[in-house]
Formats: sequence, structure tokens, C-alpha cells
Amino acid sequence: MSDPHLLSLTVNGTEHEVVVEPRRTLSDVLRGDLRLTGTHVGCEHGVCGACTVLVNGLPARACLMFAVQAEGSEVRTVESLASADGTLSDLQQAFSDHHGLQCGFCTPGFLMLAEGVLTESPGADREELREALSANLCRCTGYQTIVDAVCATAAARKEATP
Ligand code: FES
Ligand code: FES
Repeated sequence: MSDPHLLSLTVNGTEHEVVVEPRRTLSDVLRGDLRLTGTHVGCEHGVCGACTVLVNGLPARACLMFAVQAEGSEVRTVESLASADGTLSDLQQAFSDHHGLQCGFCTPGFLMLAEGVLTESPGADREELREALSANLCRCTGYQTIVDAVCATAAARKEATP
């Protein structure tokens, strides 16, 4: 077994230092050490996208990253979206309004993927958003309502931007 590593990273604006074995994944550390269980783990093989988080602003599959690869990074999980008083973010509210979730297992991953895409490409049109969202899997919704929710958020953000 390799020597443990002292990992320093920022998660949802809070700095953490965690002693990790090099073989552990970022999803292990988020869920097991930091108790941020909103990041779901489905396939553990990089296929489903349920574990998607933002690493330095970009969507990443937390089950495919070794935690040590996040050294010095800013990580955002689904727990960062709602306000401290529990008010949903605009994207979360849109998922609710457009029925973009059923069982909800895929939802944290879709929210973080969409948040990353909307930040990176605020001008993306529906087809571009569909393409980007096709990275993740949902077995319940048929995807249309998820795309509707993300498109509605994109439109509202565009309207709010001078
Ligand atoms: Fe990471 Fe499925 S759990 S991609
Ligand atoms: Fe059930 Fe997507 S809402 S997997």
C-alpha cells in the first residue's frame, strides 16, 4: 500500500486538509471523508455521470479522478447550489418547475454538469445544450424535461445579463 498523502483542496468555498491513500477517488473523499453525500455514485466507471462535480469550474467525473489529482483545486458539489436558507438555485428551481427529475439519482450530476456548461457557454443554444447534457445518463425522465429545465435557465440568465 502506498503512503497516505495530505491533500489540500477547497470544497464549496471551504478549505480542507484530508489524509488520503493515493488509490482513493475524489468521490470517495467527498462522500466518505467530507460527508457530502449529494454527489452520487452509480457505475464507478465514468459512464453514468451521476458523480459529476465541478473542478476549477469544469465538469469532472469524481469516480474517475484520484482525490490526489484534486490537490489545490476548487471543487463544487451539488451542496453548493442552494442558499444557506435552503432557497433553490435558479437551475434547481427550473428542474423542479419542468419536472426534470423523477427518482433523482442522476440529478446532482446533471445539475453540476449543466451548471458547468451554462457558465462555460452562456450563449449555447438548445442543440448545443442537448449535446453537452448527453454526457450523463438518466433512466427515468426521457431527457426532454432536463433539457427544457437547462434551456429555461439559460434563457433566464441571458435575459438577466445586460
Ligand atoms: Fe462516476 Fe458513473 S459514478 S460516471
Ligand atoms: Fe431517475 Fe434520472 S431521474 S435516473
